[in-house]
Amino acid sequence: MPPETLTQTPGGGADPAEPERLDVLIIGAGLSGIGSAHYLQERCPGKTYAILEAREAIGGTWDLFRYPGIRSDSDMHTLGYRFRPWTAAKSIADGESILDYVRATAREAGIDTKVRFGHRVIKSSWSSEEARWTVTAERADGTEVTISAAFIMNCSGYYRYDEGFTPEFPGLEDFAGSVIHPQHWPEEPEYEGKRVVVIGSNNSAHDICAALWEHGADVTMVQRSSTHVVRSDTLMEIALGDLYSEQAVAAGVSTEKADMIFASLPYRILAGLQVPVYEQIRERDADFYARLEAAGFQHDWGEDGSGLFMKYLRRASGYYIDVGASELVASGQIKLQAGQVDHLTRDAVVLADGTELPADVVVYATGYESMNGAVADLISPEVADRVGKVWGLGSGTAKDPGPWEGEERNMWRPTQQPGLWFHGGNLHQSRHYSLYLALQLKARAEGIDTPVYGLQEVHHTH
Ligand SMILES: NC(=O)c1ccc[n+]([C@@H]2O[C@H](COP(=O)([O-])OP(=O)(O)OC[C@H]3O[C@@H](n4cnc5c(N)ncnc54)[C@H](OP(=O)(O)O)[C@@H]3O)[C@@H](O)[C@H]2O)c1
Repeated sequence: MPPETLTQTPGGGADPAEPERLDVLIIGAGLSGIGSAHYLQERCPGKTYAILEAREAIGGTWDLFRYPGIRSDSDMHTLGYRFRPWTAAKSIADGESILDYVRATAREAGIDTKVRFGHRVIKSSWSSEEARWTVTAERADGTEVTISAAFIMNCSGYYRYDEGFTPEFPGLEDFAGSVIHPQHWPEEPEYEGKRVVVIGSNNSAHDICAALWEHGADVTMVQRSSTHVVRSDTLMEIALGDLYSEQAVAAGVSTEKADMIFASLPYRILAGLQVPVYEQIRERDADFYARLEAAGFQHDWGEDGSGLFMKYLRRASGYYIDVGASELVASGQIKLQAGQVDHLTRDAVVLADGTELPADVVVYATGYESMNGAVADLISPEVADRVGKVWGLGSGTAKDPGPWEGEERNMWRPTQQPGLWFHGGNLHQSRHYSLYLALQLKARAEGIDTPVYGLQEVHHTH
């Protein structure tokens, strides 16, 4: 098999039946896709790339999710791209501002001209002989386009965000009200006075409950099991302040340095280092947690008390970074109901203990399908199985089965599938690893030996 190298190839053959030939094909024009494109342009001049984006605009999840009140849950001032710092606001940014920022970044660097909008990747096949992919994308008008590329950089997110996880509750077909999934939010609906039942109690559920409450709805959150909550300002101050803050910058810890420090901490010791941080948070916000628990909210600190970031690294779910909704829960303005949904009736959600929650609207804030499912769809089920689980450390905690892996599974490094790379994560990871992905591809283009920690062994498929 030829080595996995970048080769300069002419774009598009003379024969229109020939697929266009590129060096790198990025899937997804979100923060990771745009960040990677920036560094590819900067570090690998002359190499050809394009971004296939299923939607009609740049922005990824920030374009997809249009529920009212969507915003970042941490301080954007410290989380913009390094090459284009976020200066518009120093705190929590709303979804529109993030979209403006990422779109302006793409425009200024000419990356927007490389985005093929309305191109949904539907299959990809790898030729070992040629060491190239043949990628087929379907356009909005139903026609198909085929592209040949040496590398696929999948920047479509660590979840399959366009596919919500939708539990099948009996009686759904009898329900007379509206059923909403956060990724398909209807435009300008009227919520004033509506009884809304939100199923789920993590990030999406809190965001949506608070936004609908602000719009005058009578909102009930259904909590099935415990959620870890940290107030965003406390998180920024206690957990991240030494790295990402004005004070950190004043002390000489630039964003670049902070990213490097964060990335250099071995995951094996990170959980132990996080426990005292969350003990401090528990003490500082003791009143807040007492009020939440008094309202009936089931709260946890992670299985080993290591808090938010470890939950994120292990399973990317199970928490809420509080930007305001928790006070509404504590005060009872967002109603809280513990229990498991059993079925729906014409006008209510009924729990397993028989509690009936009258509803005009039901929102499924029940999470998303995994990246593995996305790989099966974007590429093929065989490649998804060859690569195995994407994301997680193998900690043996809930939703992160062992064995211990040592690195984030399959992220930002070569995988068992030649030519296939995964990028994504939170704003900080998206920024940081965009550069290292481009550098890894550059090293291959230059024929530099680039040994890595190891290819991910496959222990878990779908
Ligand atoms: N502003 C932002 O930056 C933002 C906003 C939203 C989401 N996100 C990110 O998106 C990711 C997903 O967050 P998420 O809140 O959408 O999903 P999530 O963390 O996976 O939470 C899903 C919720 O739905 C519940 N649920 C699932 N199936 C259920 C069922 N059959 N019956 C009852 N309840 C059920 C879960 O309960 P159990 O715990 O019992 O399973 C959980 O409370 C996270 O990484 C998050 O950080 C970011």
